[in-house]
Amino acid sequence: MARVWRWQRAAPLLLAVLALASSAQALFVIEKGALKIKFPRGAAQAHRDGFDVSMANFGSPKYGGELIGKLVYPDKEHGHPNDCKPDCNFACQNFSSASPPFKLNHQAEPGQRTNYIMLVDRGPHRDDMQACKFAEKVWNAQEAGAQGVIVVNYEDKLTTMEAPDDQDEVSYKYLRNITIPAVFIKKTEGQVLKDLLKPELEDVYVVMDWNDVLPRADKVNWEFWTNSNDMCGAVCNVQREFIKEYKHVARELEGNWTEFTPHYIVWVCPEAYRDSEECKSQCIHKGRYCTPDPDGDLTAGYSGADIVQENLRQLCVFKLANQSGQPWQWWDYVTRFANECKMSEQNYNEECAEKVFNELHGNEWSSLSALRECIGDVTQDADNPLMEVEMKRQRGGGDTGEVYILPTIRINNGQYRGKLSVTEVMRALCAAFVKGKEPPACLKVKEDECRPGSVGDSVCAANKHGKTKCQNTFNGYECVCGPGYVTQTTKDGKLRCLNVNECKTLDAADLGRDCTCPRCACQDVPGSYKCISDLKDECAEDHGGCWRQDFTVSGEKKLFHACQDNIEIYKGNIVIFEVR
Ligand SMILES: *[C@@H]1O[C@H](CO)[C@@H](O)[C@H](O)[C@H]1NC(C)=O
Ligand SMILES: *[C@@H]1O[C@H](CO)[C@@H](O)[C@H](O)[C@H]1NC(C)=O
Ligand SMILES: *[C@@H]1O[C@H](CO)[C@@H](O)[C@H](O)[C@H]1NC(C)=O
Ligand SMILES: *[C@@H]1O[C@H](CO)[C@@H](O)[C@H](O)[C@H]1NC(C)=O
Repeated sequence: MARVWRWQRAAPLLLAVLALASSAQALFVIEKGALKIKFPRGAAQAHRDGFDVSMANFGSPKYGGELIGKLVYPDKEHGHPNDCKPDCNFACQNFSSASPPFKLNHQAEPGQRTNYIMLVDRGPHRDDMQACKFAEKVWNAQEAGAQGVIVVNYEDKLTTMEAPDDQDEVSYKYLRNITIPAVFIKKTEGQVLKDLLKPELEDVYVVMDWNDVLPRADKVNWEFWTNSNDMCGAVCNVQREFIKEYKHVARELEGNWTEFTPHYIVWVCPEAYRDSEECKSQCIHKGRYCTPDPDGDLTAGYSGADIVQENLRQLCVFKLANQSGQPWQWWDYVTRFANECKMSEQNYNEECAEKVFNELHGNEWSSLSALRECIGDVTQDADNPLMEVEMKRQRGGGDTGEVYILPTIRINNGQYRGKLSVTEVMRALCAAFVKGKEPPACLKVKEDECRPGSVGDSVCAANKHGKTKCQNTFNGYECVCGPGYVTQTTKDGKLRCLNVNECKTLDAADLGRDCTCPRCACQDVPGSYKCISDLKDECAEDHGGCWRQDFTVSGEKKLFHACQDNIEIYKGNIVIFEVR
């Protein structure tokens, strides 16, 4: 069997993966992203539709976004006379130990850095050289300063670049630290890119685009395929970590925004072996639903049946929690179960599970008897409806791929690719909402495009119509009415910014003495106001040179003059400044 069950060390006898047992055409869907040439323009036009690339199952794809970068191919022929073994273009070596060291952006000031997308080759595909892992190439490229990687195949096929399994200790160490995206391209199309770089006349820029990788919906449906086995090394730890962190997000998103379902992969025991020791130990419901023995030893430790039974319990916890309108209880249950009920502490069992259920006040949002009833008699020679649903979902069908690896995430029926971490998964979930309808929580996982000095910040600040404030949206940024303006909706539904006359709307105390003293005035300006203090009384001296004359009124001498203090003009400022 070519497929690797990464989380499972021992491949036990007899159990068959459901999909393989039931159909020879199990569907494995390759998730495609898009890659386009941006410059040179001639090449961009010649390849207007871009290239199909497949996304790696590790790293950080920028779901909902894109990455523009200068293409670099670290090959001897292309301007980098580095001594690498094997050749630089395979990226199998640490670039800093090449001579001379190969480093992108090493001299650039922050803010003047170029994004580099590194082109590397799969392989080496040669008998005399050992090929290195995809993840290793990507890690080396990242360490050399690349923001993205394109791996070129040695044949005209696409495949999904998988993460190395946890038995490969070395690569597993850096796997979690890969923070850049990687895609895979067919040989011929990779050659097109290499040929563009050859003349070294023009810089080549490409765009990696993840905008339309996942189907979009108003409410995002997603599935997380997991397993309650807690003895599968680093892969299990990563799953546990993810669940523990995601449970906070679940409370925010579940219900109103997303609809989540947990799933558990199921193995089956072939009919003829239902009475064998293997199937008795690894299955429930007389061989119908199985999980391989966690330690590969049927006679010792926990058995496969223990795991399937807990998987079924967790499915029931979800069912009950969801029915009560509190689907997030599943995340809490699973986190606690993993913390408190461990194989290593010999309490991975029903008693501990029910204790956790009670600690989560299961009897308030459901009941222990409902939980037991949902699980039913696991020795029964009959189907269990929940497990049947699992088997059906696992097989996929239509456009939905088969689940063949754990952990797997499906979002709106599309397969998620990338590492299992809250930020990455959230970014993908956010990219599966109809554009502009993302929940506010999505802003947490996007880059700040409004930070001081950024394009968003300066574009908005330069706006003449009051929309001076940069505001992040999941898909970029927008300019909204800045401080000192109010948003008004016009008759035709457009938003415009109206200047606020602070001189009239603010209290004297807020305006301050510089605006309100006897010889001070407040002047409204677009978006703000100005205080004019120490206004000189032009009439004080010689009445400003205006007409004046003494008259005797009722026997008293009085001075009459035609000088009017200009302060009245300022104090009476009533200019309402409108901005269209
Ligand atoms: C790269 O190789 C050099 C020399 O072998 C070593 O000192 C350095 O730690 C390595 N860097 C990484 C990131 O592995
Ligand atoms: C990965 O990141 C962690 C946390 O930042 C760090 O402790 C660890 O050394 C990194 N591993 C490698 C191989 O760089
Ligand atoms: C869902 O929306 C309703 C109504 O807008 C609100 O009362 C409720 O608190 C929201 N639930 C969550 C989990 O945010
Ligand atoms: C969870 O509850 C919602 C709302 O009641 C329902 O639409 C959905 O089908 C339920 N999901 C599952 C897997 O039962």
